Amino acid sequence: MLSQLPNPITSPPWWQLINWIADPIGYQDKYSQKYGDIFTMHLSGLGSPVVIGNPQVIGAIFSQDSQFDIGRANALAEPLVGRNSLMLLDGARHRRERKLLMPPFHGERLQTYAQQICLITEQVVSQWQVNQPFIARTAMQQVSLEVILQIVFGLSAGERYQQLKSLLTDWLDMTDSPLRSSMLFLRFLQQDWGAWTPWSRMKRRQRHVHDLLQAEIEERRNKGDEGRTDVLSLMMAVRDENGQAMSDEEVRDELLTILFAGHETTATTLAWAFYQIHQQLDVREKLLQELDSLGENSPPMKIAQLPYLTAVCQETLRMYPVIPVLFPRITKSPIKIAGHFFDAETTLMPSIYLVHYREDLYPSAQQFKPERFLERQYSASEYFPFGGGSRRCLGYALAQLEMKLVLATILSKCQLALAADKPVKLQRRGFTLAPAGGVRMVMTGKRQKAIFSNQC
Ligand code: HEM
Repeated sequence: MLSQLPNPITSPPWWQLINWIADPIGYQDKYSQKYGDIFTMHLSGLGSPVVIGNPQVIGAIFSQDSQFDIGRANALAEPLVGRNSLMLLDGARHRRERKLLMPPFHGERLQTYAQQICLITEQVVSQWQVNQPFIARTAMQQVSLEVILQIVFGLSAGERYQQLKSLLTDWLDMTDSPLRSSMLFLRFLQQDWGAWTPWSRMKRRQRHVHDLLQAEIEERRNKGDEGRTDVLSLMMAVRDENGQAMSDEEVRDELLTILFAGHETTATTLAWAFYQIHQQLDVREKLLQELDSLGENSPPMKIAQLPYLTAVCQETLRMYPVIPVLFPRITKSPIKIAGHFFDAETTLMPSIYLVHYREDLYPSAQQFKPERFLERQYSASEYFPFGGGSRRCLGYALAQLEMKLVLATILSKCQLALAADKPVKLQRRGFTLAPAGGVRMVMTGKRQKAIFSNQC
């Protein structure tokens, strides 16, 4: 017998799809108020995913990850990241690729990136002028793109680096609004209808990026890696348990995956952090006190352990999930999860947003309160800005380190203020959510506190 999908939304599927693309947060708010923490959408052309905001069900999903196909469910991302992307893989191939890619993003290797992150931030800040407004998200994207180009791609100068930098920015900006994002969800728009249609331009840029990356990979194979320590060199050198190296295509697709997954997400979260820190001046004061208490020339890893700075980053990640729901999970066979029955081929979408705004877990959830993370520990299914189970974000440690070092560097060097007092809303940007307008800020003066040691 087929089991019923829970709380199906009854409006026409085309209407649901438009709403989901245009305003995934408003959509979840509306139907969670009507149905509670589990309901089913019907999206034209994209099936009937079940949205879940219940921590018990989500905890059970994380602990039974092998029961789901997740890569297959991410097919929408293929035009951006390529078919060999970690995000699109399942089973043994996913496990192999994760094992190969994990080491450069964890443990001691992370410490070696700290200095580069601080230097990159200082370079971006040095371009700011007192009283000249700037868009925080754009500035943070400059930082995070540079971090990925230097740390992951190993590029910091030269013609190929310049070309890649501007191409990648243009490519990502092609989906910078809900309308422009719709081509990622509507397959009928994914047609080559002539040189100037959005999809054709997108594909042309993609081909150009592929060519540049292929040239870089070939050059390294021919010349050797000359003692390089960037992630690209590590990827090219790594072998699995059968002695097998990654193919050029695999390396290229993983580079793009890390680029897409890793730089917009971090930039967006940082822009939100600046927004909240400068809206709540007591938060800014407490942060500055903590940073100032460090004393001159502190090692970056000490900065990364500061409790209030950590709580500010955690609260930012709680309030502003970078994706409206986690990667979809498709059931491989009929399954009972925390008392709910689902047939095979049911798509489950754990919602970061619904859980992170539960009043029973986060009282006054609409308010930015870093203290809640100092007062209470949350479990992996109550707080999961980086997802969970076998799909937990590959770059979670790098992202958190980057957030803390960028915030500490900028706050200790500059006095900033919001340039407008209108509230900033979440808006779709491709597959992610970002602050509408990007958070306009202004540098009102400079501070001079050398909190970092010369490692930084
Ligand atoms: C604030 C920054 C970031 C946030 C909030 C974030 C969040 C996420 C989330 C929610 C997922 C999906 C997990 C799931 O469905 O269970 C994910 C996956 C992923 N993230 Fe991140 N991420 C961030 C930064 C990064 C960085 C810096 C990198 C790379 C260096 C990265 C690489 C990836 C990859 C490769 C995946 C796919 C993992 C897989 O399929 O096994 N992310 N991230």
